[in-house]
Amino acid sequence: MKNFITFEGMDGAGKSTHLERFAATLRARGHEVIVTREPGGTPLGEQLREMLLHQAMSMETEALLMFAARAEHIAKVIRPALNAGKVVISDRFSDASFAYQGSGRGMDWEKLQRLEAWVHHDLQPDLTLFFDVTVDVSRQRLANNTMLDKFEQEKGDFFERVRAGYHRRVLEHPERYEVIDGGQALDAVAAQLDAVLASL
Ligand code: TMP
Repeated sequence: MKNFITFEGMDGAGKSTHLERFAATLRARGHEVIVTREPGGTPLGEQLREMLLHQAMSMETEALLMFAARAEHIAKVIRPALNAGKVVISDRFSDASFAYQGSGRGMDWEKLQRLEAWVHHDLQPDLTLFFDVTVDVSRQRLANNTMLDKFEQEKGDFFERVRAGYHRRVLEHPERYEVIDGGQALDAVAAQLDAVLASL
C-alpha cells in the first residue's frame, strides 16, 4: 500500500472534488485514512494559510512561510499518522511550492530544493496524483467563483508557468506520479481515479 498520497494541480483542476471519494474508497477497504491540506493542516498552518492566501508578501517570504507551515504539518500530523500505520492524503504538498513559488513567481529552484531537503528529511509522497488541465479550463472553472484568493487572482501567464513547473516536477520524479487528465468530464476523471485505486 502507498501510505503517503498527495493531490496536486492548478486551481480549478478538480483535485479537491475527487479527493473525498478517493479517501472513502480506501476507508472502505479497511485503511485508516487522514485527509489534510496545505498550506494548513495544523492550527498554526491554518493561520499561516490565511496570511499566505490573502496578504501580499515577497516571493522569499511566501516560500519560507509555505515551508514553515509544512514543517509543522510534517511534525505534528503527517509523520505521527504514518508511524501509526495510517494512510495520509494531503491536498497539495511540496510540488506546489516548486510550481507556484518556483516556476510561477520565479524563485530559484535550487533554493527550494534546499528547503525541501531541510524540511522533509527523507519524507516524500509514495504517490502523487497530478490533475493536469490547460490554463483555459482552469480559468473557466474559476469564472463562477466570486471569492478568489491571491493566487487565483493571478493572470494567465502565471498559470502557464505554474503548469510548466508541475510538468518539470513530474519529469524529475516520474516514479511517484500519476498524471490525471483533469480536463475531462467528472465521470471520466473519476474513472481515471478508479484505475489508480485498482492498482494500489
Ligand atoms: P488550494 O486552493 O488548493 O486550497 O491551495 C491554496 C493555494 O496555495 C493554491 O493557489 C496554491 C497555493 N500554494 C502555493 O503557492 N504553494 C504551496 O506550497 C502550496 C501548498 C499551495
